[in-house]
Amino acid sequence: MQEAFSAQLTLVDTSVEIDARCVLGPLSLDLSFRRLGVVGRNGSGKSTLARLLAGLIAPAGGTCRLNGVDVYTDRRAALREVGILFQNPDHQIIFPTVLEEVAFGLTQLGRKKAQAERDALAILARFGKSDWAQSPVSSLSHGQKHLVCLMSIVAMAPKVLVLDEPFAGLDFPTKTQLSRYLRLFDGAVIHISHDPSDLQDCESVLWLEKGQIARSGDTKSVLAQYLEAMETLGAGDDISDLSR
Ligand SMILES: Nc1ncnc2c1ncn2[C@@H]1O[C@H](COP(=O)(O)OP(=O)(O)OP(=O)(O)O)[C@@H](O)[C@H]1O
Ligand SMILES: [Mg+2]
Repeated sequence: MQEAFSAQLTLVDTSVEIDARCVLGPLSLDLSFRRLGVVGRNGSGKSTLARLLAGLIAPAGGTCRLNGVDVYTDRRAALREVGILFQNPDHQIIFPTVLEEVAFGLTQLGRKKAQAERDALAILARFGKSDWAQSPVSSLSHGQKHLVCLMSIVAMAPKVLVLDEPFAGLDFPTKTQLSRYLRLFDGAVIHISHDPSDLQDCESVLWLEKGQIARSGDTKSVLAQYLEAMETLGAGDDISDLSR
């Protein structure tokens, strides 16, 4: 494996509001990372953070920069910096066939359709999925759709991949296969999961709680603290406390 690219994430008093309610932040951090994990309970703000980092939602306040690029205001540059794998592949896929889906991102980068399709075919071959090219996306399983989304993003060669629960709903072999592909990716990765066991490969972890950073730092110690807190919550009787 190649030495992975190191990314720089800088948030300055960054917050996100939905329906006039603050659901994330304000957060301030300046991190250099190759594999960054984000953990947190349902509703803690993980997917909101993912969208913010991909430049898909405007901060209500503050700024979000990846590798110096303001990902919301400079969309053209952001396309080269960051790609996002959504939690639900059905929110990502817009074209009827696998080839069209994978080629689309490449046309967004300015490539002509024929070139984009050639490059898309090369990516399918790299993942051993050349025979999927003309398959209707609707005929694929959830895990296979996830893989189509991953191939579409990897094809665009962003410097940073944001993966929102990439293993959710995948069976063990598919998860193992996806993990292997991810290890081959030589850019930086932000891996979001509610499951600490998914994040063992990360060098550091952010733990989100009610839109704030509860802990951040070394993977082993943050995940140990997270697990302990979750076990304590799970042992309580007040199940309503499990939702935000
Ligand atoms: N479209 C929306 N409309 C209203 N509120 C929303 C919307 N999207 C997210 N929220 C709220 O923002 C907060 C954070 O949601 P988010 O989806 O980021 O959490 P999450 O950590 O990804 O949860 P999960 O583990 O269930 O995926 C929640 O309180 C949620 O209700
Ligand atoms: Mg989520």
